Amino acid sequence: MNNKKLFITDTILRDAHQSQAATRMKIEDMIPALERLDQIGYWSLECWGGATFDVCMRFLNEDPWERLRTLKKYMPNTKLQMLFRGQNILGYKHYADDVVDSFVGKSIENGIEVIRIFDALNDTRNLEQAIKSCKKYGGICEPALSYTESPVHNEEYFVKLAKELEQMGADVICIKDMANLLLPFDAYSLVKKLKENVSVPIHLHTHNTTGTGDMVYLMAAQAGVDIVDTALSPLANGTAQPATEALVATLQGTARDTGFDLNKLSDVAAHFRTVADKMKADGILDPKVLNVDTKTLIYQVPGGMLSNMLSQLKQAGKEDKYYDVLAEVPRVRKDFGYPPLVTPTSQIVGTQAVMNVIAGERYKMVPKESKGLLKGEYGRLPAPVDEDVRKKCIGDDEVITCRPADLIEPELAKYKAELEEKGLGNGSEEDVLSYALFPQVAEKFFKVRDRDTMSRNLIVEDLSI
Ligand code: CO
Repeated sequence: MNNKKLFITDTILRDAHQSQAATRMKIEDMIPALERLDQIGYWSLECWGGATFDVCMRFLNEDPWERLRTLKKYMPNTKLQMLFRGQNILGYKHYADDVVDSFVGKSIENGIEVIRIFDALNDTRNLEQAIKSCKKYGGICEPALSYTESPVHNEEYFVKLAKELEQMGADVICIKDMANLLLPFDAYSLVKKLKENVSVPIHLHTHNTTGTGDMVYLMAAQAGVDIVDTALSPLANGTAQPATEALVATLQGTARDTGFDLNKLSDVAAHFRTVADKMKADGILDPKVLNVDTKTLIYQVPGGMLSNMLSQLKQAGKEDKYYDVLAEVPRVRKDFGYPPLVTPTSQIVGTQAVMNVIAGERYKMVPKESKGLLKGEYGRLPAPVDEDVRKKCIGDDEVITCRPADLIEPELAKYKAELEEKGLGNGSEEDVLSYALFPQVAEKFFKVRDRDTMSRNLIVEDLSI
């Protein structure tokens, strides 16, 4: 066994509630626990990025940048970590390099230290700018291997990718197993291979959707993984990460002891239990997400994708076709060159599979996202695509082979001018970035936020009279 303490990143403030409760945890639900979280000794706390940015503005009427500053204020001793979708930043399309650069810079300036950067296709050209900027602004750069299984995604593939990421400047490399597909013995073997081939620390991220998460971490710990992602028990397991306390207890007194105090963990967990209970009462957290989902083990389809496909079938009144769609998913994936199934490719492949089944003819209905993927707009696909399928979907349209962002002109100044013209925002670059990523959502949010601020100021003026 590796003779070194295992480091822990807790996801209670980001992935845990994103996976179990549609990302709805508010800053007020976090604040009472932050000082205690800061004392645990975590390697980092994942607390920002992913879907939190969009949800803050869209549903919680919270300024995501303000949230980040608050988190840092209460947790000065712990590294704050965010999830960053490569050239997509936190949105769903490619942005220009100047927007990526500014977003990384402002994230670090406002309190982020570790940036986990991934690309759905593992196209390293989509990680390039974010990695460069992270280094430039002094962040800890953690590019990820988006883990999946296919005839091309074997150990050799991931080792080669990890070596390339190390060359590109990775400080840490993450194995991002978003669908909990990586099985315990495979985790052992992959971690061992990576440790033999790269010198930077390896950070493992999985979920407990299929019920194997704790075993995955134990085997990875045996293989010498440096850091793993867990969540405090009130929002752990199921579609979220394995529980922090269980792993901490398991490793106590062993060579990989985390050094954490279980009583301190239990104390801070008590706070999140009340938050989770409230979310259950409000219907935000459906306890169904805690069920072990063995379908993923059989079909290699992430849990979230299954529920999306089922609701699409329901809308079309074709629920009886569920198993036909499940069988269609691997075929579409093969036709499309085996993309890993993570945002946004999981939605693209899932929707296409549903359409192929509903239409009764494969690729009769083709959404623009499928076309974009086949045209190379998202980047290089891991394996060759089926050329007949491509022809049927995009005809003679040109296929892009360059880095997709090379085709995007700088756009930060344009967003800034647009915002000024509309008389919105507080003039900060942070507001320009919020607007660049989610124009309609940010516009609506700014109007409410700035009206509230104005009325607060008026009240203050009134009182001073
Ligand atoms: Co995750």
